[in-house]
Amino acid sequence: MTVRIAPSILAADLAHLMQDVERVLAGGADQIHVDVMDGHFVPNLTFGPLVVEALRRFTDAPLDCHLMVERPEEYIEPFARAGATFLTIHAEATDHLERHLHEIRKLGMRAGVAVNPATPLTAVEEIADELDLLLVMTVNPGFGGQAFWDPGLDKVRRARALLDRRESRALLEVDGGVARETIRRLAAAGADTFVAGNAIFTVPDAAAEVRELRRLAEAGATGRAVRS
Ligand code: DX5
Ligand code: ZN
Repeated sequence: MTVRIAPSILAADLAHLMQDVERVLAGGADQIHVDVMDGHFVPNLTFGPLVVEALRRFTDAPLDCHLMVERPEEYIEPFARAGATFLTIHAEATDHLERHLHEIRKLGMRAGVAVNPATPLTAVEEIADELDLLLVMTVNPGFGGQAFWDPGLDKVRRARALLDRRESRALLEVDGGVARETIRRLAAAGADTFVAGNAIFTVPDAAAEVRELRRLAEAGATGRAVRS
């Protein structure tokens, strides 16, 4: 399993956004996580395609766009044009996941689905073969810096089993409260892609923190391999 670290710019210093992005990329970050919130699906407002476009001008790194919006279908094309690499939509935000995943891929992006803590994994079971990424939320979305939702660990385990059963090669991403204290267990449970905002951007050396989180995740993943 290859560990991927995805710093979330929600916790970056927005007055120095590109410097912060440069810092985490220097630390080996694999993708930049962009939290898109519309003030309806979640009670907060953040970034849109213009910010993704600016990031794309700045870096070739994969841009991992997490849409916490209602009517996600209206934003597929704008994010494709802006240069998004991954586009993840919420299972709770639409009745037509399959159609939207198809559209995301058709426009050249990798398609992801996110599930909130209260949403069962059965919401994605039938479309597992069409996923490039499955995002298991380990907080209720809307804000950074929240406490890790402990039952998420077992949900990650079940998500791993689901993807394995379907022989899916989708990334299994976790988002919310990922930090030194949680990342190792999450990797041992089968996650491979780790979003972290506060854990990375609120410490003095963001690059070193990316390296440290990777080290811990790799140790967790190795433990898992040894056991299985
Ligand atoms: C929460 C967002 C997360 C957020 C995570 O709604 O989806 O990506 O940035 O923040 P931390 O890592 O601080 O919990
Ligand atoms: Zn996110």
